[in-house]
Amino acid sequence: MMQSTFAIIKPDAVSSLFTGEILAAMEAAGLKIVALKRLHLSKDQAAGFYAVHRDRPFFDSLTDYMSSGPVVCVVLRGEDAVPRWRALMGATNPAQAEPGTLRAKYGQSLEANAVHGSDAQETAAFEIGYFFSGLEISE
Ligand code: PPS
Repeated sequence: MMQSTFAIIKPDAVSSLFTGEILAAMEAAGLKIVALKRLHLSKDQAAGFYAVHRDRPFFDSLTDYMSSGPVVCVVLRGEDAVPRWRALMGATNPAQAEPGTLRAKYGQSLEANAVHGSDAQETAAFEIGYFFSGLEISE
């Protein structure tokens, strides 16, 4: 099934100059980049994006981290894009991520884990809409 999903290249990976390699990995996996922007989130903007996690103990630290430097936001489109992008990212904790996955290659810690990906199509719809207008997405 054709799907869209949402990806973030997180501050640790952007500051470590891994943006190009991660974008190349998306395309090599057959995921088409249909929208792209680089921005520096405020803490409030990060909190809005991660609102679903607001009651979790790491929420303050996560939103501090995600507003600590520029990120690159990407909309990906392809067959089964949601699970395929999650598989390419690997497990949340880089120490447990399968070899060859992006988090195994580029992640530094559970927090600074290089990339984000939507966990379901409904989540992707919210996340894409949080960052992009329809005019900014072209297939
Ligand atoms: S997931 O992928 O949503 O099932 O992972 P989850 O464990 O629920 O984590 C949700 C996001 O929170 C981040 N996270 C943390 N940040 C800081 N400290 C700790 N301890 C921590 N645990 C989890 C994790 O990287 C997920 O970020 P995203 O951007 O959604 O991948």
